[in-house]
Amino acid sequence: MGYLEMQKIVKSFSGVRVLDEVDFSLDRGEVVALLGQNGAGKSTLIKILSGFYGKDGGRIFINGEEVHFRSPAESLRKGVRVIYQELEVFPDLTVAENIFMGDLPATRFIGIPVTNRREVYVRARELLELLGEDIDPEVPVRRLSVSAKQVVEIARALAKKANIIVMDEPTATLSQKEVERLFAVIRRLRDQGVGIIYITHRLEEVFTISDRVVVLRDGKNSGFFGTRETSWRDLVQAMIGRTLEELYPKRASSIRSERVLLRVENFSIPKYLESVSFTLREGEILGVFGLVGSGINELALGLFGALPFKGRVEVDGMVFARPLPSVAKSLGLGFIPADRKQEGVIPELSVAQNVTLASLESYCRGGFLRLRDERNCVREWVRRLNIRLRSIDQPIKSLSGGNQQKAVLARWLATNSKVLIAAEPTQGVDVGTRIDIYHIFDDLAKRGMGIVLLSSDLPEVLALSDKIIVLEGGKAVGCFSKGEADERTILYLAMGGKEAVTH
Ligand SMILES: Nc1ncnc2c1ncn2[C@@H]1O[C@H](COP(=O)(O)OP(=O)(O)OP(=O)(O)O)[C@@H](O)[C@H]1O
Ligand SMILES: [Mg+2]
Repeated sequence: MGYLEMQKIVKSFSGVRVLDEVDFSLDRGEVVALLGQNGAGKSTLIKILSGFYGKDGGRIFINGEEVHFRSPAESLRKGVRVIYQELEVFPDLTVAENIFMGDLPATRFIGIPVTNRREVYVRARELLELLGEDIDPEVPVRRLSVSAKQVVEIARALAKKANIIVMDEPTATLSQKEVERLFAVIRRLRDQGVGIIYITHRLEEVFTISDRVVVLRDGKNSGFFGTRETSWRDLVQAMIGRTLEELYPKRASSIRSERVLLRVENFSIPKYLESVSFTLREGEILGVFGLVGSGINELALGLFGALPFKGRVEVDGMVFARPLPSVAKSLGLGFIPADRKQEGVIPELSVAQNVTLASLESYCRGGFLRLRDERNCVREWVRRLNIRLRSIDQPIKSLSGGNQQKAVLARWLATNSKVLIAAEPTQGVDVGTRIDIYHIFDDLAKRGMGIVLLSSDLPEVLALSDKIIVLEGGKAVGCFSKGEADERTILYLAMGGKEAVTH
């Protein structure tokens, strides 16, 4: 019996079974990857383990003893710690205060606990060193990078003596370098006897970091694998029930004409971007590659008018004079934000309302909403993006994380804009849908749309783009046309290497 044993776990939401007799086990000192398509039930299984949801059936054992969690606090007491994708750090508190949140080491003065600040910092430093990290415990967390914040969360888990740490898509917003740092921390934790459950949509990570793999499909177990004995093909087969021949489409350039849909000159955003220039033609996909923090996110926000910029932007010959999203939209720009949780999903609205938010006026003819058209359009995108739901009228917040993301994608894909600015469009999206999105982009470009693909996923940028700009430190440090540069050259530049091979 494993240290953690989950047996025949059952869970339903309003009568729909989302976990159907799922088995899962984990030993101390091992990393188990939990895989499955968007909506397969991964987060739900984890939320049952963390006491966030009650289960409708099945049993959970930790260290041979049956447990019945009625709240997250009870699960925490048994040494389970979940690090959710939305990090739960307090930006204004210091690193040390975050680590010891809720149980600051205290000495007693006439029976009253007094927090010993010195000791807090000493112990925080010890924990961070255990993780091999050189982070100053006295700085406010807001000053740290995302990966350093994650390390703080992990240190907090250790401070609470976690034996089981769950990470739900921890690398979605990390750069390559930061992922390596996280993996080093995970290996160290494993060697110290912590059991780790690792959820991801990036299969290459599974092979790098896990010892075993458990796959869910439609709320059921669909495979148990030793990582060393399995392959990409087997995992994909277990996840989606069929094999995939290729992840990236072989796309031929579909540049239609020399007509420039987007002209950007000396585009600057104070502190983030310096004098970036490019043009985008009809039917062209321009890839902008950069690591997290390179400025790609700010470039995306700025191009859509969500951040004030300096410089000149023209959309199909019209000057983008006032940086406002409403102006951007009226000029024919569409925008898929990277941070879809914050900037995309409106949790209280239904899926249908979320999808049609950006395209509402096109259904308004003669003053009334053409409801049937609108609903058909929503259904069409739900089908194309394989969004898993019961009804397009259910609140979007009851969808799995990845399916919520897809609904935001659908919102902008449904608008027929001239130019689509897509930031990290495949983040948090499962492999099957990833391929669907690539084909949709290819298709949109073929119909003449111009697409700016801003992404920190290099293989995807290389496969889709007609032209690639590399951003580093807020500057364009390289520009290549398709096939001109390889992965190594581009990564080298993105990481601050100096020998720019520009033309
Ligand atoms: N609070 C809820 N109310 C109703 N349905 C829910 C709720 N939470 C999850 N579900 C449903 O349960 C199913 C499993 O969702 P879950 O979040 O576990 O998927 P997941 O495997 O984590 O997917 P993703 O990769 O997209 O994060 C989905 O169909 C989802 O719509
Ligand atoms: Mg999830």
